[in-house]
Amino acid sequence: MSRARPLHIDREEFRAIGHRLVDQVADLLASIPNRPVTPGESPAEVRAALGTGARLPEAGSDPAALLEETARLLFDHSLFNGHPRFWGYITASPAPIGMFADFLAAAVNPNVGGRTLSPAATEIELQTIRWIADFIGFPTPCSGVLVSGGNMANLNCFFAARAAKASWPVQREGSAPPAGGRLRVYASNEGHVWILKAADISGIGTDAIRWIGCDGSQRIDVDDLRRQIAADRAAGDEPFLVVGTAGSVSTGAVDPLPKLAALCREEKLWFHVDGAYGAFAAAVPEASEDLRGLSEADSVAVDPHKWLYAPLEAGCALIRDRDAHRGAFSYHPPYYHFEDETTNFVDYGTQNSRGFRALKVWLALRHVGAAGYRTMISDDIRLTQRMAEAIRSEPALELFTSDLSIATFRYVPGDLRARAGEPEVGKYLNDLNEQLLDDLQRGGEVFVSNAVLDDRYVLRACIVNFNTEDEDVAALPAVVVRRGAERDGRLRPAELRGAR
Ligand SMILES: Cc1ncc(COP(=O)(O)O)c(C=O)c1O
Repeated sequence: MSRARPLHIDREEFRAIGHRLVDQVADLLASIPNRPVTPGESPAEVRAALGTGARLPEAGSDPAALLEETARLLFDHSLFNGHPRFWGYITASPAPIGMFADFLAAAVNPNVGGRTLSPAATEIELQTIRWIADFIGFPTPCSGVLVSGGNMANLNCFFAARAAKASWPVQREGSAPPAGGRLRVYASNEGHVWILKAADISGIGTDAIRWIGCDGSQRIDVDDLRRQIAADRAAGDEPFLVVGTAGSVSTGAVDPLPKLAALCREEKLWFHVDGAYGAFAAAVPEASEDLRGLSEADSVAVDPHKWLYAPLEAGCALIRDRDAHRGAFSYHPPYYHFEDETTNFVDYGTQNSRGFRALKVWLALRHVGAAGYRTMISDDIRLTQRMAEAIRSEPALELFTSDLSIATFRYVPGDLRARAGEPEVGKYLNDLNEQLLDDLQRGGEVFVSNAVLDDRYVLRACIVNFNTEDEDVAALPAVVVRRGAERDGRLRPAELRGAR
């Protein structure tokens, strides 16, 4: 008697379910531009629609009906970052070939922790890493690993830096220097939150981070950095890592990477570039010299699920020195029978069992080639410049920055424009724009996010979206102004009303 296999789906049923699902997804993709970006429902509404209050069922259900219903529910109650007017955070529209890739990867299901478990997948991941490095101008051969996203890619590089640069065996003995003082890491105060998490998890502590001030363009002040490193050394601390940002999360600012590289060489520090957002823009012909300076880094974190439009999740750590990378993560437990001379990705990161993330990146790179990516990235940047122009020519909007593919701006009612510098008016404009952001995010017409620049709450559009067209960016100002005026009408306190 054969065992019960309730999960098994036989070939013909699998084929029929799959065809039906592909039909549904194809129709969804075609319909997204005509849907709201998001239904903007409350958590309670979503819970009610999905029935997520129900208990785990004891008995199973028909898989065809389950998939049909689940697809419908997801389509009706999700936000679509593939919508042409989705410009929130730094989240990309997904490459369709990546959707097929995830399906294919799950079908083969290689465990890409060990090469023996994933002979083809390991080679594809290695090639993907080389292609990514080549594309952005990072020297190859190099080491690397695919991870879940930008935070994890940065963390991976951080741990490699700590192991390589600490003057004692930090992995065995812990993060406090035996001779006293503490390890120090440097980043601008526009640096991303992963630095806090890395400092915490690594045991160096978040107080070990030196947040360096910026110039007027949100770029790290290299002279201040130099002074801080000297002061820390004089106080007995051990500087080990400088983080340069290639595309800051708030405004897309790029630190002067060649200058940081020179300083790190002089000071014998590990130079890491957080290129989670902007590194791929180093590949386009109009890339600045500052951005191209990432080629001089010891490590770079990049995020294929941002500007390579891979469906979530896909991040990638690139590290110049393979031994330094491997040294940070390689242990040899007796229960693994892995060949030493090949790449086993367990030796290059914190993950043990690993999925086949590389496939969606590799297939998309082959689908459109380097030229296809350069065109899409350049178009995102060009459209952002168009958006900035449209914002600038709208009197009720104030443009703050436009860098790479991020524009920041705020709504300022006409009668308050001349008074925006008054503290009371400034505070009101912050409240107004914060609430306007809620309205915009729930409204479903356009989706933007926010930044805080010099205590001013601003709206922020980031185009990492190959579905966005000129007409979409041209539509933004009118939507923001209409919703802004509505919100202003409801929110303005009496004492500021007289000014109208
Ligand atoms: C500069 C920068 N670093 C790191 C991250 C984190 O990336 P992820 O969200 O993929 O973890 C982001 C995300 O926007 C970012 O902009």
